[in-house]
Amino acid sequence: MFAVLKLLIYSMFFRELLALSGSFWHITDLHWDPTYKLTSSPELVCASSGKRPAANAGVFGDYVCDSPWHLINSSVYAMKEILPNPDFIVWTGDDTPHVPNEELGEEAVLHIIGNLTHIIQEVFPNTKVYSALGNHDYHPKSQLPAGPNYIYNQTAKMWKDWLNQPSQVTFKKGGYYTEKLLDRTGFRVLVLNTNLYYNQNKLTVDVDDPADQFMWADKVLTEAATNKEKVYIIGHVPPGIFEKKRSKAWFTPKFNQRYLEIIQKHHSVILGQFFGHHHTDSFRMFYNSGGSPISTMFISPGVTPWKTTLPGVEDGGNNPGIRVFEYDTETLLVKDLVTYYLNLTRANAARGQWEKEYRLTESFRVPDASPASMHQVLEHIANNRCYLQRFFELNSVSYDLTECNSDCRVDQVCAAREVDFNRYEHCLEKEGAAAIHGGLLQVLSVTLGLMLVSR
Ligand SMILES: *[C@@H]1O[C@H](CO)[C@@H](O)[C@H](O)[C@H]1NC(C)=O
Ligand SMILES: *[C@@H]1O[C@H](CO)[C@@H](O)[C@H](O)[C@H]1NC(C)=O
Ligand SMILES: *[C@@H]1O[C@H](CO)[C@@H](O)[C@H](O)[C@H]1NC(C)=O
Ligand SMILES: *[C@@H]1O[C@H](CO)[C@@H](O)[C@H](O)[C@H]1NC(C)=O
Ligand SMILES: [Zn+2]
Ligand SMILES: [Zn+2]
Repeated sequence: MFAVLKLLIYSMFFRELLALSGSFWHITDLHWDPTYKLTSSPELVCASSGKRPAANAGVFGDYVCDSPWHLINSSVYAMKEILPNPDFIVWTGDDTPHVPNEELGEEAVLHIIGNLTHIIQEVFPNTKVYSALGNHDYHPKSQLPAGPNYIYNQTAKMWKDWLNQPSQVTFKKGGYYTEKLLDRTGFRVLVLNTNLYYNQNKLTVDVDDPADQFMWADKVLTEAATNKEKVYIIGHVPPGIFEKKRSKAWFTPKFNQRYLEIIQKHHSVILGQFFGHHHTDSFRMFYNSGGSPISTMFISPGVTPWKTTLPGVEDGGNNPGIRVFEYDTETLLVKDLVTYYLNLTRANAARGQWEKEYRLTESFRVPDASPASMHQVLEHIANNRCYLQRFFELNSVSYDLTECNSDCRVDQVCAAREVDFNRYEHCLEKEGAAAIHGGLLQVLSVTLGLMLVSR
């Protein structure tokens, strides 16, 4: 009880007083669908529905469609209203709609990237943006090459105000770059092109180190340690497993392993990893060989509400989400995160507003978003049904409010806990068994006063 009280006092009084606090936006997966229009034939509302009827289409969109322009515009202006002067913006890609390649093309993809770049630049003219390519920011989709090409060239041109000269060079070569964070000594960002590790990418599956990105990242992180720098890693496709579909991985096994090794080797300089691609709200833990938490990857929810067509995922839609991270400007420790969302149903019906969905430290009773605290969050979720249910609802940005059953629990917990594929499979076995025998324990922990979960 005292620990809880202490925590409460800490978060209420000290968070606002701590001076060295900064904040930045993370937005991802905007997926603009330029074909979206309100018509009386639900099948014809948007190309991205793939003939699924858009039964509840409104001005802000529909759950079977990618974002109409109105939603894109609304999300960027909501950022401006909620936090007009962020220190910087992290934007982790996926700008184009989920449609067959034949319905897009190089120029169409570049136009869409251009339009989104333009609105972000227009609304935040003086804000530095760290921008990563998504697998949908290429034509054909997911086939990002490990060398120079027209799209990297043109994108570098569009992002010229955001990329310094050396960044332009590496970006044109492999779609990745590094810079001092806000030009400050001792702080660095590493923007990766992890689309090169995506198992759908036919151009890189047989390559040992596509675009020499691993070698480069290892060198940058080694030098960062020498120079006593702290680093944020930014990218689109995350390693590990998708929490909404059992054993569904994005990286090929060897690339997943390499990524994990890089984090384990350099964790002491890496203060946060910020990724997208899932469209859901989740995180991934990294541990050392002794089992201590050493790093966290934050996976932020997407702006598009698009219900995934991935076989085996039943109702994989989400509400549009955007996120503020609060961090210590001296240590780069991630102190907290606040997710804002648009209840799409309500927005369409009654011009609903973007609102705060939750604050991490409030909802999960942790002092900050450090690896140790995120490990604690994971333990809460794994061992307490109230926390699990809350986490599950947040996972779809308060879209899917059904009960997270024991299969769902295992999927959520093991995906967050184990980035390594083999360890993930072991986790399934271990936690699956626990689901059968752990009923009593759960009842106990629920009764033990975890009505503390706040909304
Ligand atoms: C974008 O949103 C802003 C703020 O709500 C509004 O003033 C503007 O008219 C919108 N633009 C478009 C094209 O929807
Ligand atoms: C997108 O950009 C093109 C030019 O690149 C422009 O003609 C068009 O009006 C833009 N669309 C929107 C919605 O901003
Ligand atoms: C990309 O731009 C470079 C110059 O920056 C040029 O040499 C190269 O030919 C371009 N490549 C493609 C495929 O457009
Ligand atoms: C979203 O809005 C709908 C319609 O007003 C409502 O039924 C639903 O409960 C809302 N969801 C949340 C999470 O508030
Ligand atoms: Zn996406
Ligand atoms: Zn993606």
